[in-house]
Amino acid sequence: MSLAYVQKPQDRLADHLAADMAAVNLLIRERMASEHAPRIPQVTAHLIEAGGKRLRPMLTLAAARLCGYDGPYHVHLAAAVEFIHTATLLHDDVVDESAQRRGRPTANLLWDNKSSVLVGDYLFARAFQLMTEPGQIRVLGILANASATIAEGEVLQLTAAQDLATTEDIYLKVVRGKTAALFSAATEVGAVVAGAAEPVVQALFTYGDALGIAFQIADDLLDYTGTSTAIGKNTGDDFRERKLTLPLIKAVAKADAEERAFWVRVIEKGDQRDGDLDQALAIMHRHGALEAARAEALKWAAIGRAALVKLPDHPLRQMLDDLTAYVVARIV
Ligand code: IPE
Ligand code: IPE
Ligand code: MG
Ligand code: MG
Repeated sequence: MSLAYVQKPQDRLADHLAADMAAVNLLIRERMASEHAPRIPQVTAHLIEAGGKRLRPMLTLAAARLCGYDGPYHVHLAAAVEFIHTATLLHDDVVDESAQRRGRPTANLLWDNKSSVLVGDYLFARAFQLMTEPGQIRVLGILANASATIAEGEVLQLTAAQDLATTEDIYLKVVRGKTAALFSAATEVGAVVAGAAEPVVQALFTYGDALGIAFQIADDLLDYTGTSTAIGKNTGDDFRERKLTLPLIKAVAKADAEERAFWVRVIEKGDQRDGDLDQALAIMHRHGALEAARAEALKWAAIGRAALVKLPDHPLRQMLDDLTAYVVARIV
């Protein structure tokens, strides 16, 4: 069996983009510095050095290279994208009261909420500095819009939490906002900085959007079915936070009177007891809710793959194709 075959798609992508990624990591390290506030590099290093898959910056680099770019600015944009991602993680772990991220205690747990919020703000601002550097207003617009859309998605999720009337439509809006917006901006800016033709820009946008949606549906499934060792985060957080993610929405839609009373107690009223998470999982299994959510993730992965046919023939195109299988392979 060849090495290329056993490697995970994102590792193949990382190998192909190794020189670019090294430049991104160097730039990240340089720009996370702060002359006056040591707390900033402490908190940032805690999260950045824990790794992370670096999926989004790789998408920017891959899109730019696939479109024939040979200038320097895809590196700045990829670093900006990872800074936006890191900022949203710091804020998200405060909002979700999460205790574990990338296999480590969260910054909010190690330091405090204040540090996470403020360092997150700093990294957002650092991202904006980076994204002005190519001197292209369209690039700036794409990443600025994505930043607003992510925040919008997080707020919509906040107001939909605990509400059993949340529909799959609302869920899709949340997921598109909080997660897919950065995936699609990552691929779109790569194409735009490379000066790609409009249909190619559009195809890469559609690919990022669909990949991001599939990715988040998978992440939401893993919150119920994964192990904390495998995902580097605690499982059951969404249930505890009473979030209406796809498996729950699908189970609620099929609930009989007794099950509905259970959902009202644990999700609407927040009266959760020992064993409730197992009970929730049993109900989800009974109605095939996990399988149906999995099918939805596969559907979006297929939409992502379909968008790639519009792209120029390139080794990176196959890697992006394989990535759609990988994001859902985590759950199948
Ligand atoms: C975590 O994203 C946030 C979600 C959108 C689920 P990743 O799973 O890409 O996080 P890291 O960067 O690899 O830790
Ligand atoms: C991901 O949302 C955070 C953002 C996309 C801003 P979640 O809250 O669902 O992700 P995890 O599980 O904490 O990584
Ligand atoms: Mg979270
Ligand atoms: Mg969250």
